Amino acid sequence: MKKVFIKTFGCQMNEYDSEKMADVLESQSGYTPTDNLDEADMVLLNTCSIREKAQDKVFSDLGRLRDLKSQKPNLIIGVGGCVASQEGKQIVNRAPYVDLVFGPQTLHRLPALINERQRSGRSQVDISFPEIEKFDHLPPARKDGGAAFVSIMEGCSKYCTYCVVPFTRGEEVSRPFEDVLVEVSGLAQQGVCEITLLGQNVNAYLGKVNDQAELADFAMLLEYISEIPGIERIRYTTSHPKEFTSRLIQAHATLPKLVNHLHLPVQHGSDKILMAMKRGYTSLEYKSIIRKIRQVKPNIPISSDFIVGFPGETDEDFLQLMKLVEDIKFDNSYCFIFSARPGTPAANLKDDIPREVKVRRLQELTSLIDEHILAISKSMIGATERVMIEGMARDGQKLQGRTENNRVVNIDLPADTNAQRLIGKMTTVLFTDALAHSLKGELVLKLS
Ligand code: SAH
Ligand code: SF4
Ligand code: F3S
Repeated sequence: MKKVFIKTFGCQMNEYDSEKMADVLESQSGYTPTDNLDEADMVLLNTCSIREKAQDKVFSDLGRLRDLKSQKPNLIIGVGGCVASQEGKQIVNRAPYVDLVFGPQTLHRLPALINERQRSGRSQVDISFPEIEKFDHLPPARKDGGAAFVSIMEGCSKYCTYCVVPFTRGEEVSRPFEDVLVEVSGLAQQGVCEITLLGQNVNAYLGKVNDQAELADFAMLLEYISEIPGIERIRYTTSHPKEFTSRLIQAHATLPKLVNHLHLPVQHGSDKILMAMKRGYTSLEYKSIIRKIRQVKPNIPISSDFIVGFPGETDEDFLQLMKLVEDIKFDNSYCFIFSARPGTPAANLKDDIPREVKVRRLQELTSLIDEHILAISKSMIGATERVMIEGMARDGQKLQGRTENNRVVNIDLPADTNAQRLIGKMTTVLFTDALAHSLKGELVLKLS
């Protein structure tokens, strides 16, 4: 059996796509996945170009693969994902030992690309955006554990001025409503109890119902998924403040399976910077969404992505960001330094902030958020929650799970507990202690 080694960079969408690559290669081309590079007949890099560093990693990996290929001339090297999408044929120009270049929307064509590579002896490049064709050509979803991801929409049409995603993944395209429901039901039948709905802007979802003109919005999708037997918990990522409708807020009030956690990236707290980023809302509008969601879910932990050091960000702008963070008290969030991406409008702005100022702002932001993370964790002590058990903790003695707000929790076990039985399931846990980035807990065993 031939073996494929897949390395994934970047976001959850890429993780999802890597799984799909493995599925399609196994079912159509006879490759099984391996974690051991030495035994691989094919190596695929599923790349990310969101920031400069992410992109650089790809080219340094390619350099190493070149050496490997000189020892193993039949090795097939493929580059997929967002760098592939952005650079296309230039990857082959720069690294002629690359056999395949394919984009996020053409990964289902991998078997055909491999055949054509072997038939013609030439490198193959296909980075087109054939709408939603990808989903019609992938094997049905499968999952071993208790949690699974389901992509509901692809691409992004927001064109934030700093971001490559609309260029690498194309415009927003939603999967048909029934297709998503069928995929989730199939996963539930295989024992999946937690579903994460994926997309760059899941709340921009507008899926065709029954091939009719009628469209279902994201709130409707959530309502229907909630009805699927076996699904106990629903997460989604990422949502955008612009389409955070009152129907979606209402869904949080009425659907108990929706997780008590919201990842709603604000990016900045200064209206001047938000405008320059073309995010489409003000800091006050963002706060008003959070106020409404907290009216229906008073203690909901909220996380975000942030960019510091955007061109033109003054000390005053940064203070406004810190003020917003203090007001909202964000939970565990992602903080980045602005990275100029070629081809985006912000790359043409004068990058007028010294590196050390950017680094200092990043540190100040992350340490303020760290304070809030710890305060949120401490407030969880004494509470019980349904926790998804992911496996054994590193010490091999405790179980490890994820809370609703994605905190790792290490769970003590009574001596006679059959720990393996709980893996991949949800169980009730009492939180007993809070550490910097994790919690301790105990099993609350049901008497029934
Ligand atoms: N669609 C999501 C997230 C997309 S990318 C959203 O709009 O919220 C994930 C994160 O990477 C973004 O939220 C942003 O914080 C960060 N990011 C994107 N482009 C960047 C750039 N050029 N420099 C630094 N961070 C960037
Ligand atoms: Fe990028 Fe903005 Fe789209 Fe998010 S909403 S993927 S940051 S363009
Ligand atoms: Fe990176 Fe593309 Fe995701 S740029 S963050 S892999 S959408």
